[in-house]
Amino acid sequence: MTTWNTGTTQVLSEFKEYALGPMRFMNLLSCFELGIVDLLQKNTRMTAQEIAESVGGTEAAIEQLLFLPVKEDFISFDERTGAYALARMALPTDEDFGRVIAWFNMIKVICLRQLYYLSESVKTGKVVGLRELYGFDGTLYEATAENDDLRMAWGAMMDSVTGFIDEWFFAHFDVRPGVKVLDVAGNTGLGAILTRKHKPAEDLTVACFDFPEKEADAVANFQEHGVREHCSFIGGNVFKGLPKGFDVVMIKHFLDMFDRENVLKILGSVHEALEPGGEVYILVPIYPEELKSSSSVDFFPAYFLGCTMAEGGPQRLSTYQKWLTEAGFEVVTAISQDIATMPPDMVPVHGLLRAIKK
Ligand SMILES: C[S@@+](CC[C@H](N)C(=O)[O-])C[C@H]1O[C@@H](n2cnc3c(N)ncnc32)[C@H](O)[C@@H]1O
Repeated sequence: MTTWNTGTTQVLSEFKEYALGPMRFMNLLSCFELGIVDLLQKNTRMTAQEIAESVGGTEAAIEQLLFLPVKEDFISFDERTGAYALARMALPTDEDFGRVIAWFNMIKVICLRQLYYLSESVKTGKVVGLRELYGFDGTLYEATAENDDLRMAWGAMMDSVTGFIDEWFFAHFDVRPGVKVLDVAGNTGLGAILTRKHKPAEDLTVACFDFPEKEADAVANFQEHGVREHCSFIGGNVFKGLPKGFDVVMIKHFLDMFDRENVLKILGSVHEALEPGGEVYILVPIYPEELKSSSSVDFFPAYFLGCTMAEGGPQRLSTYQKWLTEAGFEVVTAISQDIATMPPDMVPVHGLLRAIKK
């Protein structure tokens, strides 16, 4: 009989956890998608037969699906009555579930299938999954324009992360009243809207810069939030240059999408667009200096290489500092988010850098 020494046993057990990850993930998400969690929130106790009658499928299939959440004590099972009820799953709030399900759904739609082609994406420098599954040659951000499922799954997650982290970002966004702000890669305007919300006294004007196809959604968002007078949209491609005439540039969740060469090109464009003394504020997912304390490396390499860009991935804060200096900026602030203040389910840990054009 083969035996394994302690070290090998440990490694093989960890491999087992990796193998089980995607299976557990879909089993749990399916409980939400089928509406089982919702049902148990409303009805407290239900048998597999009653659940099946309400959500579809057979009693046997529902029993199978619920073995895992029962094992985890997310859901309880009463052997005597055959009734299921929420157990530990009753603890998170609706807001918590909203955040978690936006992430889960993004992982299902954007990651699970595309990652089947991760190795090919790494080899070719293209997001092969998008080509195979959507017939699309390009990045996820371009693909969202013509694929509703990708746009909705990614957009909900992105807005949820941005809505959460921007409070921290704007607590450090220290600008003079009346300045003109450019939000580079500002998507459909949420960053501009939040700038007005978090800095009401400063009366800032904010232009959102992103691919031209985002304009209609951005303008609709500005209108809906009553900021149309102070917020505008400029369509373009950052690699073809940025508009001038702004005092402050924000770059949020963007530099991590690129490798060093492209990050330096973007910082070069920002440098060219600003006057001396102009400022850039960067919000970016980072890897901590000490990798072992992070779950970011569990997520981002596969996400960027296999699902979105086929390049990029976060860096350490010290790397971004170095690159900003190389691009002709003086870094005046470089801080990372306090993990203790983050919801425990949150994956990205953010860094914030403020730098001045010399
Ligand atoms: C990860 S999102 C970040 C959105 C927003 N800044 C936020 O924090 O919520 C990246 C954005 O970059 C935009 N983008 C990607 N490549 C770009 C390019 N070359 N020029 C302009 N925008 C680009 C995408 O359309 C997308 O809206």
